Amino acid sequence: MLGVIGGTGLDRIPGLSIQRQEQVSTPFGTPSAPLAFGERGGELFVFLPRHGADHHIPPHKINFRANIWALKECGVKKVIGVAAVGGLSPNMHPGSIVIPDQIIDYSYGREHTFFDGDFQPVDHIEFGNPYCEQLRGELIDAATLADVEIISEACYGVTQGPRLETSAEIKRMLRDGADLVGMTGMPEAALAKEAGICYACCAVVANWAAGLDAEPITMEAIERQLSTSMESVCKILMRMDMR
Ligand code: HPA
Repeated sequence: MLGVIGGTGLDRIPGLSIQRQEQVSTPFGTPSAPLAFGERGGELFVFLPRHGADHHIPPHKINFRANIWALKECGVKKVIGVAAVGGLSPNMHPGSIVIPDQIIDYSYGREHTFFDGDFQPVDHIEFGNPYCEQLRGELIDAATLADVEIISEACYGVTQGPRLETSAEIKRMLRDGADLVGMTGMPEAALAKEAGICYACCAVVANWAAGLDAEPITMEAIERQLSTSMESVCKILMRMDMR
């Protein structure tokens, strides 16, 4: 079964009707919202809004462990994390849809592993390729079917938030090799891998990262951009194999 974790600008998937909601409890607490189960062509899918049903949970307060655990418990084998991000590389402009293949994690102080001694014996997961290549391929194929242009390689730099970055931080991230900046890509990707879930990210560039545009970043401009770009993301999701 396919799971979709919706980010800012995606709190439901238009065109996919929800048949049942379930509040799941996990050893790590409750997920961001009840899991919403829907169906397409006889196949079940699950949707979970990362920031809560009313978008009240800031990035550093998201219970990533409960979210991933709950999806796993419900039988989800593959998860697409949709994320609003800022663009750093010149070709990753507002409106670009990007399927990243690498991550640099600048976040801190988050509950970032299931292997913390209390719950399971430690396992050091392999994380050289942080995303599931097969699911990235399925996303890329779905984008082709949906006739949506995407960029299929990028490095996603994950910052702590909730504030946006300084211009100097963005310059450093560019030197590091980051193409995108967002606040929720980690520990989500690592926890999914620890849980044995196939995970890929569909990132939507909402704005130029700090200092790269003459205008300061505003939430209004981000929301405006996302309201159009998420339509393309939904077109891609509608073409995904739900199994
Ligand atoms: N920085 C971090 N997270 C973001 C941004 C950004 O510029 N835009 C959307 N999410």
